[in-house]
This record gives sequence, C-alpha cells and structure tokens, in this order.
Amino acid sequence: MTILGIESSCDETSAAVLRDGTLLSNIISSQLFHTDFGGVVPELASRAHLRAIVPIIQAALDDAGVTIEDVDAVAATQGPGLIGSLLVGLNTGKAIAAARGLPFIGVNHVEAHLYSAFLGEEKPDFPYLALAVSGGHTLLVLVHDTERLTLLGGTIDDAAGEAFDKVAKMLGLGFPGGPLIDALAQEGNAAAIAFPRPLLDEEGYRFSFSGLKTSVLYHLRRRAVDGILRLTDAELRDICASFQQAVVDILVGKMLRAAAEFGIRDLAVAGGVSANAGLGKALRARAGAIGKRVFIPPPVYSTDNAAMIALLASFRLSRARKQPQAPAFARLAGTLFHETP
Ligand code: KG4
Ligand code: ZN
Repeated sequence: MTILGIESSCDETSAAVLRDGTLLSNIISSQLFHTDFGGVVPELASRAHLRAIVPIIQAALDDAGVTIEDVDAVAATQGPGLIGSLLVGLNTGKAIAAARGLPFIGVNHVEAHLYSAFLGEEKPDFPYLALAVSGGHTLLVLVHDTERLTLLGGTIDDAAGEAFDKVAKMLGLGFPGGPLIDALAQEGNAAAIAFPRPLLDEEGYRFSFSGLKTSVLYHLRRRAVDGILRLTDAELRDICASFQQAVVDILVGKMLRAAAEFGIRDLAVAGGVSANAGLGKALRARAGAIGKRVFIPPPVYSTDNAAMIALLASFRLSRARKQPQAPAFARLAGTLFHETP
C-alpha cells in the first residue's frame, strides 16, 4: 500500500510517500518570504502553495523512486489551517484521487502532529501523552492507540508559539520569534525576572499564555525612559531566558502532572515549539528523573510536514481494511477528539 500525503495548511507546502508503513520521501518547501511581513500573510501563502504544489508532489514521488501509477491512496490535510492554503492541497489531492480512481483520506492536521513521534527513530508505546505546541495550537492529549484520543486541555487564548512570536516582536527580534528567543535565552539568566506561570497550579490542563505576554510588555514599559526602550544585550538575553523559562515550566509542569494522574510513561512533543532547546532539556531532565521517556521527533517531522499526514492516513486505511463494515474512506475523515468526561 503506497500512500501519497499532502500538507498545505499554513506556510509549508509538503508531499510525502509512505509505503507499508515505511517513509520513502518527505519534501517540504517553506515560504520564507513571510518574514518580511512579520507573520504569515494568508493570501500570499495560498498563491505560493499554488505555485509549489505540483512540483513538490513530483519531487516527493521522484525522491521515493515511484511514479503516480504506484500510488494506492491519496491523503491531504483538511483542517484546521488557513482556508485558502488548505484548499490548494486538499483539492490537488482530491483531483489526483478522482482522476486515478483512488481512495482519498482527509486528515486532521493537529491529530497528525500527535502521532508524529512515530516518525522519529524511537517510537513511544501506547498509551502516551502528546503535547502539540506550535504557532497555532497548544494541546495536551492522551493517545490511547491509533484511533482513540482524549483531549486533556488546550490553550484558552494564545498558542505557545504565538506567545514566542509576539514577545519577539515586542523585543524587535523578527519572525518567527521562537528560534530567535531560544538562541538568546541560552546565554541569559532564566531567574532574572519573575514572570508569572498562568494556570500552572490550576487543576486540569488548560493553558494560557496571553497574560505572560502582557507581563513581558509591562516589564518593557517599566524599563523604558521617557517612552524610549534601550536594552543592553545582557538585559535582552535575560528577558528571553526568563520568558522562555516561564513557558517551559508551564508546559513541563502540566505534562508531568498529567503523566502522574493517568499513569503514563511515554511523553511526546510535536509542533514548532518542540524544537525549543530549553523545553527539550527541561522535559528530558525532569521526566527522566522519574523514569519517564521523552520523544521529540526531529524538526522535519515535528513542524508541518506531509509525512505525518500520510502516516495518519495509513492508520485509517488499515482500520478500514480490518473492519469492512466501516464507513467509506471519504467519510473516515475528521477528528477523533473526545472531550474528557
Ligand atoms: O509547527 P509550526 O512550524 O507551524 C505551525 O504553527 O503550525 O510552528 C511554528 C511556531 C512558531 O510560532 C515559532 O516561533 C515556533 O513554532 N518555534 C519555536 C522554536 N522554533 C519554532 N518556539 C520556540 N523555540 C523554538 N526553537
Ligand atoms: Zn502544524
């Protein structure tokens, strides 16, 4: 079974080929020009996807050493994401499937992130906890198997990556802000400024980053003289380190509490923020100390990519094969999220 996966939900155009569970290719084209605008411009993103989608699919087939005739099923991200961007990958995938008479599987993007730990070298055992942290999402989910998920909680305002991007903007650092703050934080003093850890001690697994971002803004306002802010390099590094430490403490704290509450050993993190050096270090140290295992796939699998879309489609297809009475492929699409009782 050879699956062609397509991803175009935000600013990455990606295609991948997965054969019998083995990834043969994963081609990603990132739209770097958005940095000039300080954020993703949806209309420009859709146009760039239109230009890239066919060459990227061809490159994925070539890289895998297959042709379109070898493909048995097509999968594409159907949401959530930027509507104009989603339409490009989704309609291209549907068109290929319709033209070749192949099954089509629409995949939920966030759900795909939750399973991307399986694309790394070491794979978690079920059930595991998955934290999806990107510019658009912050979700903590209990992953029971390839079909069943329990949503433990998500952000009630900004996503973690969004907070990194907004704080970087306040500091005049550029976009995307996460990697820039991460680099500066490594040389800063994380204990220099006591930023709050919103909802860290609240029962349950909701996240909030908006107040933390505002605390950074107030700190900068207090530091300004006559409305002009001049930070030394050392102060900038300390602000980055202190802000990042607050985010890391919240993410790690909630994850470890959930692991204890539900008796889970394996912890997976995916999404752009999973590349954060401080987060990886703190989670590995604190989780390792209590016998937990941490799975953070390399950035090509943890940021937006089509390999995870093809992977989730392979789970759906094998379920459909095992249960012939299961709904038709097209109707298997959609989210499997269940709220906790
Ligand atoms: O998953 P992703 O590539 O795209 C989506 O948002 O779906 O995630 C991008 C986000 C941005 O907010 C970016 O600032 C953040 O991930 N990010 C990081 C790091 N690298 C990327 N945040 C913190 N530390 C990093 N090293
Ligand atoms: Zn994503």
